[in-house]
Amino acid sequence: MKRDFIDLWNLDPEESWRVVKRTEEIKRGEGIEPVLEGKNIGLLFTKPSTRTRVSFEVAINQLGGNAIFLQEKELQLSRGEDVRDTARTLTRYLDGIIIRTHSHKWLEEFTKWAGMPVINALTDKSHPCQILSDVFTLYERFGEGIRNIKIAFVGDGNNVCNTWIVAAGLFGLNLFVATPEGYGPDSYYLQAGLDLSNFTGGNIYLTTNPVEAVKEADVVYTDVWFSMGDERSEEKLEALRPFQVNGELLSKAKDSVLVMHCLPAKKGEEITEEVFEKFADFIFTQAENRLHTQKALLEFLFTQR
Ligand code: CP
Ligand code: NVA
Repeated sequence: MKRDFIDLWNLDPEESWRVVKRTEEIKRGEGIEPVLEGKNIGLLFTKPSTRTRVSFEVAINQLGGNAIFLQEKELQLSRGEDVRDTARTLTRYLDGIIIRTHSHKWLEEFTKWAGMPVINALTDKSHPCQILSDVFTLYERFGEGIRNIKIAFVGDGNNVCNTWIVAAGLFGLNLFVATPEGYGPDSYYLQAGLDLSNFTGGNIYLTTNPVEAVKEADVVYTDVWFSMGDERSEEKLEALRPFQVNGELLSKAKDSVLVMHCLPAKKGEEITEEVFEKFADFIFTQAENRLHTQKALLEFLFTQR
């Protein structure tokens, strides 16, 4: 049966941990087989990408496969060909596809009609490849202690925030989410995270007070206030200003705090340049780990029977 990766819950907790732990071996260069040999994997992106696209292309090549980049404007999709026909056609050529697009619903529809594994490379609702990799980055740093640390997500309740909530449920983590009133996470993802937490012992706590979330935190995570496709607005900017990750907010966290950012960053908005540079080494390790995690993910999805 084909395995898709549209949201984190497409892997159960045991499988998710297996991928994270396998990433550690892959990063050390252990037991990497050309599991994608003879396979053609498409990358269909309707939004820009630096990290996701390049790390997936490199991962596919390093696993012996062939990556084919597909731009929406070069496809008949841009002229109105419907999603079902695009999915059914591409299934006849490709062995798998990685998609970044605006509408999560569109991706779900594509996946329904595609007879090959589909991987979500970011939608308006979720970014599972990013957060799977971020959990690896924290596992690499904290080992099994990852379950005991306090992780704070501070900022807009966007796709990355939604996915962190699911990750806390799936991996049994302690997550504090601070978003302004009216800019909270999606209720569907919140419920999924809470449901998973019942099985894994995760804790998900929502607040509109950034200081409460960051207080004594081990990790502070942020992302842009305006995601791709969002309209910039003064009102939202004003609401988010108290949520900026700056020296003052970070002084409430543990002295040993680590700052994470999925990138790209808009310095001066969600994070100050000073804080960004202080944690740049960790943030770019976080970016590097996308490559290692995605190799583990591809290996998992394409070796399932
Ligand atoms: N973090 C992330 O997904 O980066 P890109 O938009 O550059 O792919
Ligand atoms: N929330 C951001 C993440 C970018 C990787 C966006 O969707 O633009």
